[in-house]
Order: sequence, then C-alpha cells, then structure tokens
Amino acid sequence: MILLPILTAFLVTRSGAIDLDLSSRDSICDAAALIQDGVLDYYEGTRYGGAVGMFVYPYYWWQAGHAFGALIDTWYLCGNDTYEQLIHDALMHQTGEGNDYMPKNQTMTEGNDDQGFWGLTVMAAAERNFTAPQDGPDWLALTQAVYNTMWERWDMEHCGGGLRWQIFTWNSGYNYKNTISTACLFNLAGRLARFTRNDTYVETAQIAYDWLVDIGFIVDSNGMARVYDGADIAENCTDIVHIEWTYNIGIMIGGAAYLYNFTEEQYWLDVTAHLVEGAKVFFRDGIMYERACQDGDNCNNDQRFFKGVFARCLGLTALLVPDLYDDIMPLLDTSASAAAQSCVGGIDGHTCGLNWEYDGWDGYYGLGEQVSALETIQSHLTPISPAPLTQENEGVAVGDVNAGLNTTRNELTYSDMNIDSGDVAGAAIVTAVVLLLAVGGAIWMVL
Ligand SMILES: *[C@@H]1O[C@H](CO)[C@@H](O)[C@H](O)[C@H]1NC(C)=O
Ligand SMILES: *[C@@H]1O[C@H](CO)[C@@H](O)[C@H](O)[C@H]1NC(C)=O
Ligand SMILES: *[C@@H]1O[C@H](CO)[C@@H](O)[C@H](O)[C@H]1NC(C)=O
Ligand SMILES: *[C@@H]1O[C@H](CO)[C@@H](O)[C@H](O)[C@H]1NC(C)=O
Ligand SMILES: *[C@@H]1O[C@H](CO)[C@@H](O)[C@H](O)[C@H]1NC(C)=O
Ligand SMILES: *[C@@H]1O[C@H](CO)[C@@H](O)[C@H](O)[C@H]1NC(C)=O
Ligand SMILES: *[C@@H]1O[C@H](CO)[C@@H](O)[C@H](O)[C@H]1NC(C)=O
Repeated sequence: MILLPILTAFLVTRSGAIDLDLSSRDSICDAAALIQDGVLDYYEGTRYGGAVGMFVYPYYWWQAGHAFGALIDTWYLCGNDTYEQLIHDALMHQTGEGNDYMPKNQTMTEGNDDQGFWGLTVMAAAERNFTAPQDGPDWLALTQAVYNTMWERWDMEHCGGGLRWQIFTWNSGYNYKNTISTACLFNLAGRLARFTRNDTYVETAQIAYDWLVDIGFIVDSNGMARVYDGADIAENCTDIVHIEWTYNIGIMIGGAAYLYNFTEEQYWLDVTAHLVEGAKVFFRDGIMYERACQDGDNCNNDQRFFKGVFARCLGLTALLVPDLYDDIMPLLDTSASAAAQSCVGGIDGHTCGLNWEYDGWDGYYGLGEQVSALETIQSHLTPISPAPLTQENEGVAVGDVNAGLNTTRNELTYSDMNIDSGDVAGAAIVTAVVLLLAVGGAIWMVL
C-alpha cells in the first residue's frame, strides 16, 4: 500500500515523454540524453561479469561499434560528457591484440563490414578530438590499421576487385562480395584523405567506387544512383542481389561527401548529389523507412540499425556539401520529429519504435531502434556544429601509415584458432541463414 505511491512517483520522474522542438538545441539534447540512457540499458560492460565494449545478447560486435559511434555523436553534438569514460573504455577494450579491431574472440562473427564499423567510430573519435588513448595507438593510427588491413584484402582474383563480406574462410558468406564492406573502405578512405590530406587515400576511394559501378552494385543514371547489396563470386558477381538498404547508400553518400569536401571536384559533387537523389526512395511523406523489410514486418536484428547509419551520414553530408543542405535537411527533420514521437514506449516512457510513420510507439524495441532514433534526432545538430577536424585544423590524433600491416593475423588459419567444429558449424549456420534471408528478401522484392 505504501509501496504504490513511491513506485508511481518513481515512474513519473523517470518518464517524461519526449517533446522535440528542432529549433532548440536544448530540446534536441534533452531528447538525446533520455534516448542514450535507453541505449545503455542494453550495455553489459558496466554489469558484473560483463565484457567491456559489448552489449547484451543478441547484439553483435559490429552493432556495439556503431552504437559507440552514436554515443560519440551525442558527446560531441550536445557537449554531454556523462559517458565519455564509458565510451573510451569500450573503444580501448575492443581494439584487439593487433590494435586493428580484430579481437581474437570475434573471429567467429567478424566480417570486413564489422571491422569497418569500428573503423568508422574511431575515425569519428579522431575527427572530433575525442579524448586520446593514454597508451597505445591514437584514434588515427587505429583507423589506419582498419583501413590498411581491409585494403590488403582487396581481392582481384574474383569479380575484378572488391571486398568479400567475410574475412575468414570458415565463416559462410566468404564467397559473397557485398557493397557494405567495400563502402566502409570507401568511406574510411575518403575521411582519411580529408583528415591527413594524403591523396593516396583518394586513389583507393576511386578504385572502390569504380569497382562498385563497374560490377553493377551501383547504378547511376539520369542523375540518380541506386545501390544494391552484393553478389556471389560463383557467378563472377553477375548474379546481383538487388535488395536496397539505407546503410549501403548512406555509407556511400558519407564517403563521397568527404571526398568532395577535400578535393572540391565537381566529379565528387555529382557522385554525392546522385546518391542523395537515389536515397529519396527511403522516405515516404518525408519520413525515413527501411523499405526492404519494414512494411513486411520482417526487419532482422541487424536491419533495425540501418536507419541510424543512414541519418548520421546524411547529417554529415549536409555539413560537408553545403550545396545539398536544402535537399537533405527537410527529410532529416521530418524523420527526426517522426522518430521522436515514436519514443514514448516502454516503462521508462522513452523507448523508441521501428516504424516512425506509426502514430506513437509501434511496440518494437531494441538497441537498433534506440540508436537509430538517437542518430536521426541529433543529426539536426550536425550541420550547425563545427566540421570534422583535420590535421591542418586542430585535429591532433597521431597516425601511423603502416598500422595493422605488421601482424600475422591474416595468416591465421582455422587450426590456429583453437575453436571446435561446433562453433564453426554454428557460425556457418548463422551466416547461411542471414544470407538466405537477404537473398529471399531480394526474390521477394523482385516478385
Ligand atoms: C547528459 O546525459 C545524461 C545521460 O543521458 C543526462 O542524465 C544529463 O541530463 C545530460 N546532461 C545535459 C546537460 O543534458
Ligand atoms: C574479447 O577480448 C577482448 C580483448 O581483446 C576483451 O576485452 C573482451 O572482454 C572479450 N570479449 C568477450 C565477449 O569476451
Ligand atoms: C569477372 O568479372 C570481372 C569484372 O567484371 C572481369 O574483369 C573478368 O574478366 C570476369 N572473369 C570472368 C572469368 O568472366
Ligand atoms: C567543406 O565543409 C565546410 C564545413 O561545412 C564548408 O564550410 C565548406 O564550404 C565545404 N567545402 C566545400 C568545397 O563545399
Ligand atoms: C583538440 O585537442 C587539442 C589537444 O587536446 C587542442 O589543442 C585543440 O584545441 C582541440 N581542438 C578542438 C577544436 O577541440
Ligand atoms: C599516404 O598514405 C599511403 C597509404 O597509407 C602511405 O603509404 C604513404 O606513406 C602516405 N604518405 C604520406 C606522405 O604520409
Ligand atoms: C614488426 O613487429 C616485430 C615484432 O613486434 C618487430 O620486431 C619489427 O620491427 C616490426 N616490423 C616493422 C616493419 O615495424
């Protein structure tokens, strides 16, 4: 009897629905603070026995890498340092033995794209002057290690180039070349070029972009580019999975925007503009949606994160390519308001949903929903905040152009891994199911 009022009082103070006013930075940052607490509800690193840098089951390692990127954005855009130490610890714990974001204990799940996502996060740490590591390589060197190890895997043997989805032969999906892996390399190359003013990275970005176009994963016509998912090497990448995801085009847009901002070439402005035009298919009445799975109610654990990746890249593009600001911002703003009005679920009253066109919370919840709403809402602040730093302009992160190249990691074999065949079979089944879903989705799209 006495408990009830106390409990009610607790719930009332904890809740407080999000009332987003995009014209007010405080309003956006209040919303971001509430939503980031929802993100950290899934964090295991501060729980007894939990691994630092990991979120609870069933969240994968790449999703953690992406989530810390979102928290760095909140730290930066809102100047809120509440979780600075937590983020720092997470990035440090997951660097892996070779300081290249390939920790041994992730070899059963880690693909090129997974490593790439941690790379994107440490690149952002460099661009935003996030507190430098005390010992060990700095953010720039860590990013270069990711870039170098990925670029070393550029595979000319099949399909004339590109990155495979998987790094390790025993993970199924090894024979699939996907856009997201190559896009992560492209994005990192564009950002490293701008940060270090080293043209070699522009050359890599150009090779990656040309390959994606030549192979048909990107089709650019009539001022509009579409970005498809990938293809198996069995048919020399001619049997393309034509499914379209927000994160594939998002990561491409972001990379192209950095390349334009650095090179100031009309060529990269056109590439960026055509991709932005193509990205409009992911908005309905101005509201962002994951068209390949949302209407069918079958977005999987990974796919629920994609919109946040997309929103972040669009915000950065509005900043780095002022010519496209007017094109992008109305879409981001409508989506931010729609996302915020979905964040009224759960006991806490600020659990975010998946479908932002739905009036209120649609009943979906999870780390992906939470991170995607956070990124979309705070992206409004990106173009009105200072541009990502460069070495010429106060960026102090220390680099190492050879980072990641002096390890024996790429020669690791299955027998070195000390894993039993049950794990291998398990990993193979998981990736096979994911691939089946992607392909199945594609067939469904075609029909
Ligand atoms: C910073 O974030 C924390 C956690 O989300 C929140 O409790 C706090 O109110 C925020 N501070 C400001 C000034 O917004
Ligand atoms: C994986 O290894 C890293 C060190 O590379 C460690 O910090 C982390 O806690 C381990 N993760 C898990 C889930 O055991
Ligand atoms: C495979 O595709 C690449 C890129 O399109 C092409 O250069 C190569 O000749 C093809 N190989 C075969 C055997 O068809
Ligand atoms: C690069 O981005 C900065 C920051 O927004 C902007 O001021 C500048 O005009 C951009 N450069 C080009 C070539 O658009
Ligand atoms: C970045 O950090 C360095 C060293 O801590 C500092 O000198 C510089 O002013 C910072 N720049 C910005 C823009 O925060
Ligand atoms: C530019 O980057 C490339 C690729 O990492 C590297 O080999 C080269 O040494 C760099 N150049 C300079 C001047 O740092
Ligand atoms: C590679 O690492 C080994 C052992 O850590 C070291 O002795 C060697 O000097 C390194 N080589 C280069 C090129 O950095």
